[in-house]
Amino acid sequence: MSKVNGNSTAYKKTQATSWGNSAQHYASDVHEGSGIMMPLIGAYVETAKEEVNGSPQILDVASGSGEPGIQLAKLFPDGSVTMTDLAEGMITQAQRRAELHGVKNASFAVADAEDLSNYGGATFDVVTCNCGLMFMPDYERALSEFKRVLKPGGLAMMSAWGLPEHTQLIRLMHDMRTAIAPDDSFFADPNILGSREKLLHALQRAGFSSSSCREVNVPMHVPGEKVQDVLQHNAVIAELLERLVKRGDPDVAERSAAALLDSAARRGFLQEDGTIQCPTNIALFVSARA
Ligand SMILES: C[S@@+](CC[C@H](N)C(=O)[O-])C[C@H]1O[C@@H](n2cnc3c(N)ncnc32)[C@H](O)[C@@H]1O
Repeated sequence: MSKVNGNSTAYKKTQATSWGNSAQHYASDVHEGSGIMMPLIGAYVETAKEEVNGSPQILDVASGSGEPGIQLAKLFPDGSVTMTDLAEGMITQAQRRAELHGVKNASFAVADAEDLSNYGGATFDVVTCNCGLMFMPDYERALSEFKRVLKPGGLAMMSAWGLPEHTQLIRLMHDMRTAIAPDDSFFADPNILGSREKLLHALQRAGFSSSSCREVNVPMHVPGEKVQDVLQHNAVIAELLERLVKRGDPDVAERSAAALLDSAARRGFLQEDGTIQCPTNIALFVSARA
């Protein structure tokens, strides 16, 4: 189980609020526009093409603004995809993007991945969860739920950020957080499932068999003038900044942007034009059979 400070109900409430608040920007920066998450979403589509036949029933958990759910709904027009997330704002964006993409075979619900009791056992052919597990206080419980709702032999696909030394932008965010709030550890570490062994053992404990894991690179570049926006639009960081402002630190947004740029310069990721270039951000992509 991942460790979070305080009780997990309060933690999840804050997660739902902060991801919900950033949902519109998440949709435009991460899934549309520059679409930084899309190389990783491609791994779900490729694997589904190889391993899934017919008209599957798919459950996408922690869909955010609708991925990989929307791409899978397009890949399997005769199947169906249920997209779920803890944050209502994210589900609104998922619904909006699905319409934009002409998707007709999808449904949407607010749901906590650790409690999928609205869905019966052995219901789905495929369960997906892209970059969601590491934000769950009890990700082992979520994995057990994935196993329960999958039909025997059904396919689970999920991903998590790799170790900090392999995720440059997240490492810069760690540096920034240490600079402005060294004692704050309210949110779980996004790299918490970064070790291949840890992730595969967790799947094994949840009862999955024949798991495989590969690395996918997600390059990220932030133009200098957008650094402050990126911090404000990142749900986890935005929540921290808001708390620090409330505690009487009104300039924290500027200081956090400066700290991020400083860390980028020290680590050799700052270009002459002020862009932060992080060409290597490794995610672990796992597929497993129930
Ligand atoms: C980094 S985003 C990933 C979104 C999307 N799957 C993607 O690939 O871009 C993490 C998502 O996990 C969701 N989340 C966090 N805790 C959750 C929980 N306990 N149950 C369901 N979703 C959760 C957040 O609301 C957020 O939308």
